[in-house]
Amino acid sequence: MAGSPDFDLYRPSEEHDMLRDTVRALAEAKIAPYAAEVDENARFPREALDALVAADLQAVHVPEEFGGAGADALATVIVIEEVARVCASSSLIPAVNKLGSLPVILSGSEDLKKKYLAPLAKGEAMFSYCLSEPDAGSDAAGMKTRAVRDGDFWVLNGVKRWITNAGESEYYTVMAVTDPEKRSKGISAFVVEKSDEGVSFGAPEKKLGIKGSPTREVYLDNVRIPADRMIGAEGTGFATAMKTLDHTRITIAAQALGIAQGALDYAKGYVQERKQFGKPIGDFQGVQFMLADMAMKLEAARQLTYAAAAKSERVDADLTFFGAAAKCYASDAAMEITLDAIQLLGGYGYTRDYPVERMMRDAKITQLYEGTNQIQRIVMARNLPK
Ligand code: CAA
Repeated sequence: MAGSPDFDLYRPSEEHDMLRDTVRALAEAKIAPYAAEVDENARFPREALDALVAADLQAVHVPEEFGGAGADALATVIVIEEVARVCASSSLIPAVNKLGSLPVILSGSEDLKKKYLAPLAKGEAMFSYCLSEPDAGSDAAGMKTRAVRDGDFWVLNGVKRWITNAGESEYYTVMAVTDPEKRSKGISAFVVEKSDEGVSFGAPEKKLGIKGSPTREVYLDNVRIPADRMIGAEGTGFATAMKTLDHTRITIAAQALGIAQGALDYAKGYVQERKQFGKPIGDFQGVQFMLADMAMKLEAARQLTYAAAAKSERVDADLTFFGAAAKCYASDAAMEITLDAIQLLGGYGYTRDYPVERMMRDAKITQLYEGTNQIQRIVMARNLPK
């Protein structure tokens, strides 16, 4: 993994705090103003991408030797958290850039790393991750997409579904079956380019939340790619996909933290302004108790997520448990906190004139993607701490 673990277990260093200040200022000035309209019109947050690229924040995880910032896992979490605090859709730019490219970083050849990480680091290309299929969601190893060897080439055929940023990304890590007899051991990973002949995309899904981040099917119709586009050895694609998720489920936890923080900050301000029975509703103990619970859950989720980020950076033996636990706990917390934020705003919270209903809709996806929270519990149960 890139970067150095220059933080003491899970406590952010001074540099991490400075990074947070920088990202928060950028997010408030250049991303927040568009968040409601991006959601309303379900359009890609181009302004956010431009602002992130101008500040070199679109893919901070790329190692320095490949032209990136070489940010550690906690720094990457902080970037995603701060962007998600104002616009969850935009936070999928740095998050999915890490998800899509991590298989190459973890298992790819030097040539693949050089070729595909430099454009990502420069902001010239985004990277998506293609694991799921219409009939292979939780059971990822049940995929049908097939890759068949043909001399110095592989020919890919199949349909990938729920692909975040599909159509916007130039590069796609695609998991495909190379030996149908071997289930998970017969799956290999490849880099596919948007411009490869035979690649096309479905209509954008009409979603409850993260409406600014396009989710589309990716169709692979006799896509013929050079054999050196395989990531790692034949048959290692499923293990690479799972190792990737061990690290990147932490970025979904980060997204959940950011969304929840945004909702809590908004609700905290609102209860000071809103007067009923002759005083701000924040003066009522019932309201104070709700805010206390929200802050308590958020801080517990943050500590678990930062602990998981430290483990990701060190690639600790218990990373699999912690990655799943952070994603599961933080996303459940974000759902509860955003629902409570709506409650604190009353009827106003239920309207699109206020941001908390968007935050609640955005929080919901964090309980679903990169593995449902039921799958996280399977992963945790199979990897209980010793
Ligand atoms: N690290 C390394 N290797 C691993 C691994 C890990 N964490 N987990 C599994 N493997 C390897 C092992 O080598 C294992 O083989 P062995 O028998 O030799 O140990 C092999 O994979 C198969 O593992 P399992 O037997 O555990 O496989 P399974 O079929 O029972 O499935 C699962 C396990 C955890 C349920 C898995 O299918 C899973 O994670 N499902 C959820 C899929 C998911 O998260 N999808 C998200 C899509 S991406 C997304 O949502 C992105 C987005 O839009 C932003």
